[in-house]
Amino acid sequence: MKMTRIFAAAIAALGFAGTAAAFEGEQHAPHEHHWHHDGPFGTYDRQALQRGYQVYQEVCASCHSMDLMRFRNLGQRGGPFESEAFPNPNDNPIVMQIAQSYTRVWSDDEFNDDGDPVERAGVPSDPFPAPFPNDQMARASNGGAMPPDLTLIVKARSHGENYIYSLLTGYEEPPADVTLSPGQHYNPYFPGGKLAMAAPLADGILEYADGTEATAEQMAEDVTTFLSWAGDPHMEARKQMGVMVLIYLLIFAILVYLAYRQVWANVKH
Ligand code: HEC
Repeated sequence: MKMTRIFAAAIAALGFAGTAAAFEGEQHAPHEHHWHHDGPFGTYDRQALQRGYQVYQEVCASCHSMDLMRFRNLGQRGGPFESEAFPNPNDNPIVMQIAQSYTRVWSDDEFNDDGDPVERAGVPSDPFPAPFPNDQMARASNGGAMPPDLTLIVKARSHGENYIYSLLTGYEEPPADVTLSPGQHYNPYFPGGKLAMAAPLADGILEYADGTEATAEQMAEDVTTFLSWAGDPHMEARKQMGVMVLIYLLIFAILVYLAYRQVWANVKH
């Protein structure tokens, strides 16, 4: 009696798992894209980081904030505009130029002598400007959906960059059995398939500063590389440290072996 109950429960559980799998079947697994920064020695592709920032700035920044980023991060060691001539990113002319291109009220506690908030050009220590002053306005402008902050998005999603890349390049016509409400778009890589972001990339929507052809795939790869860096800016330093540690351990192992030979050299078998 007891056995049959356990059996029935097991079969019910299996059946449940089966239906869950059938629902998930509609969601596509992300592409296995090759990234320059994959693997134990992989580094960020500097050109891709620069182009990726351009894509973020010209396309994504109209809806998505990157709250943890400051302009000077772009010029820091390992950043897109890192420069040997300007080890201090606050002096980096490209970073200064980017910051200066924005004029706005930067802070709630900077006032002029009349008590009005100060509007001024940006400096390298200012944060990336957010597209909306608050979450309510962000939602109101996007049909009720909140465009998430992108600083840590690669870390925050399983399959990281492969998911982001697949999402950006994966928009499709909805299949016949899927109905979309107004403002929804179909993308089989998004959980549930329906999202409030229209395909943000299409061939030729911008002109790359370095002359690379701006195909949708190229922009998706570049902006995803940029977002990976933003979420893990010290990855390269960490990998270098790992290599140093391995070299150290190797030398140490050789020394220990030689010492062992020395110590036991006079002992007869
Ligand atoms: C017109 C506004 C708009 C633009 C431009 C835009 N997005 Fe979005 N994005 C949204 C909204 C709204 C959502 C939330 C969608 C939802 O939850 O249904 C979103 C969601 C996302 C997500 C999260 C998906 C998830 O798994 O939750 C990512 C990643 C993303 N956008 C990346 C980008 C990138 C990269 C760009 C630039 C190439 C970009 N977006 C441009 C509005 C926008």
